[in-house]
Amino acid sequence: MSVKILAIESSCDDTGASVLVDGKILSNCIANQTVHEQYGGVVPELASRAHQENIVPVVDQALKIAGVSKDELSAIAFTQAPGLMGSLLVGSSFAKSLAMALNIPLIAVHHMQAHVLANFIAESHPSFPFLCLTVSGGHTQIVRCDSPLQMKVIGETLDDAAGEAFDKSAKLLGLPYPGGPLIDKYAAQGDPKRFKFPEPQIQGLNFSFSGLKTSILYFIQEHQQKDPQFIQDNLADICASIQQRIISILMNKLVKASQETGIKEIGIAGGVSANSGLRKALEQQGAKYGWHTYIPRFEYCTDNAAMIAITAWYKYQAGDFVGLDVIPGARAAF
Ligand code: KG4
Ligand code: ZN
Repeated sequence: MSVKILAIESSCDDTGASVLVDGKILSNCIANQTVHEQYGGVVPELASRAHQENIVPVVDQALKIAGVSKDELSAIAFTQAPGLMGSLLVGSSFAKSLAMALNIPLIAVHHMQAHVLANFIAESHPSFPFLCLTVSGGHTQIVRCDSPLQMKVIGETLDDAAGEAFDKSAKLLGLPYPGGPLIDKYAAQGDPKRFKFPEPQIQGLNFSFSGLKTSILYFIQEHQQKDPQFIQDNLADICASIQQRIISILMNKLVKASQETGIKEIGIAGGVSANSGLRKALEQQGAKYGWHTYIPRFEYCTDNAAMIAITAWYKYQAGDFVGLDVIPGARAAF
């Protein structure tokens, strides 16, 4: 009998539902929340209210597209952690109720593990051991994977995440939230060598982005004082230079991680892996160092339920289920 899993993702500001049948993603639906734009960041209480409105229609749509009815489901999966507590509560309560009503197993998924496993949705996926640079709005990690469910963080940010570095830089430039995709867009027309921003000297495989943010702040203040039109007139070059520096910080550590571990199966994941400059840089470094490189499709980079579903597929096969008393947000490690 085939295994049919419904997965729900509600860690931050997007409500996602996906249906997987025997390891294949048949649907991946998402309701994006636009309510936060006017506030320049995600407002947790508004996010959980929007999840409550969106979750039933998004789940219905995912089941419909997949051609699967609720009664056929083998298990329900949900994002347990990390994330905004109110948002996680909506997804986990919904998943628990459905699992109880249908009397089927419940699978708790770690959001960061799921980002890594987004690389395993495609037919041609990494073999093990595998290194993944996971770059999102809240995390920046280099993860060593020895099997789908055996992962270890070997490097991470000491302060801001790469996504935050993009978003905070964009905010300093007067761009709306989330600014990462906009920096990407403007950078495409700019000269990345025009302005130089410092590279932090951090030991080992860890990252730091807070110094970059400060240097961008001083850079903007200094130039704006002399010329109030400075940002408008040089936006593309500024964006390209900032993006170039964030990418070089990330890639230098990834090269170091590959050299230290001897692993040449290398991928990226998380919202920032949608960045066109980072995707190109991975291919270039891959060609230089003889890596096999992996990049999830765009819709599997930013938050989505398909990555929760693929993780749940591995957990289902391992018999890794949880009880209805599982608490959302209560798990820090994979
Ligand atoms: O993984 P994700 O969707 O949500 C979290 O789990 O945090 O990542 C969101 C982050 C935001 O900081 C957003 O600005 C960034 O990913 N992002 C990008 C791009 N697309 C999304 N950053 C740079 N370039 C992009 N194209
Ligand atoms: Zn995420």
